[in-house]
Amino acid sequence: MSARVYIETFGCQMNVADTERAGSGLQSAGYELVDSEGAADVILFNSCSVRARATQKLFTRIGEVRSSRLSEKPVIGVMGCVAQLEGQALFDNPSISLVVGTRATDRLPELIDRALNGKNHLIDLDERADGEVWNIPAAQRHSKYVAFVPIIEGCNKFCSYCIVPFSRGRERSRTADDILAEVYGLREHGYREVHLIGQNVNSYRPKSEAGLEGFKGATPFCKLLRATAATGMERIKFTTSFPRDFHPDIVTAIEENENLCDWIHLPAQSGSDRVLRAMRRGHTRDDYLRRIETIKQARRRLSLTSDIIVGFPGETESDLEDTMKLVADCEYDGLYIFKYSERPGTPAARLPDNVSRQEKTARFLALERVQRRIQRRIYEGYLGREVQVLVERDSSRSRTDKTGHSTCHKVINFPGESVALGQVARVQVRTANPNSLYGELLDVA
Ligand code: 5AD
Ligand code: SF4
Repeated sequence: MSARVYIETFGCQMNVADTERAGSGLQSAGYELVDSEGAADVILFNSCSVRARATQKLFTRIGEVRSSRLSEKPVIGVMGCVAQLEGQALFDNPSISLVVGTRATDRLPELIDRALNGKNHLIDLDERADGEVWNIPAAQRHSKYVAFVPIIEGCNKFCSYCIVPFSRGRERSRTADDILAEVYGLREHGYREVHLIGQNVNSYRPKSEAGLEGFKGATPFCKLLRATAATGMERIKFTTSFPRDFHPDIVTAIEENENLCDWIHLPAQSGSDRVLRAMRRGHTRDDYLRRIETIKQARRRLSLTSDIIVGFPGETESDLEDTMKLVADCEYDGLYIFKYSERPGTPAARLPDNVSRQEKTARFLALERVQRRIQRRIYEGYLGREVQVLVERDSSRSRTDKTGHSTCHKVINFPGESVALGQVARVQVRTANPNSLYGELLDVA
């Protein structure tokens, strides 16, 4: 088969990784991957269902593509979370002829082959087959310098608002052997940073310890961190961590290994015990704050980011105040705030969504104001300090500036015409902007 396939990705890093994996399988099967829909014979949307807005965006895009290619009728398929959840119902939309669930990525080549041969309403929502390999050639990755390495798929936590356990199924951890082989391979290809990714990386629990022998650690994830550090990969980040499973040994592992980066993303979701209970998060405000204390006491300053949902059913003004107080106490380097979005089939969807749209917006803005004030102080604390920046691209604002992330995962811009992409630059911070830092190039490592 030599058809042209275009894949558009919505949502989280797991979807980005899965698109890479899909692309790699399709290329091996002889398909050509193209980077725009205009010339494609097959258009796939790797969809996200975490909030209603993401799902709406998918249908808007399908409509746009259909109307721009009316006469040619390319095969349009939906993969990812919406595919897994909606299944057969997606065929109510006459534009969609292929539905590929979150674990069917590796079967895409055959599915597309059949679709191109005229078969309509093809659907695969089955599990991944045993022995499927995850490795993705460098050419297929979203970046030449930063690679996402999934270590655990799915989620067993069933927070009451969340659709992920339904769209991505139960937790399945890759063996460390497999993960480490990928990291070594990436290093050989010149990658300088990897992100170990998963809905809850610190719940990592592989079926066997293969690859972790000889590494100490209070949990399999702590061992994996040390084993990954031992590969010599220059910068290692990991996301997302789940508070209840956040063992202090994670901080110890970071202290011991310079290449484990100084950034932790630990979503709190709320600062009110009442709301946390209704969310079924499995942690209280105090449990969470104890984890934060360990992180704050680390020998290296660790940058800390979080997610918060405002307007959960039944959330009162006083609950919101508890959240604002938590946010102020934690002094996050960055915060993703989301307005609660009801997801059909989740336990929270049975609760009356009694916080009005306007009220959710007001709470979002109030919390954002708290965070903005804190963030300004934290960012100003970087003035005069040196950061190591992996240079990822030319800045979109200025032709002479480069942009990248620090080890503490802040966006850093600096004048660097002479600096090649993929290098690590030492930058001294000169200006603190609300969501990025601007600095001066000292030298290149
Ligand atoms: N409504 C709003 N935000 C949600 N998230 C997950 N489910 C929902 C929902 N139903 C947020 C959580 C999670 C982040 C990835 O998305 O904060 O950490
Ligand atoms: Fe969703 Fe909770 Fe699992 Fe995160 S831990 S993916 S919020 S169910």
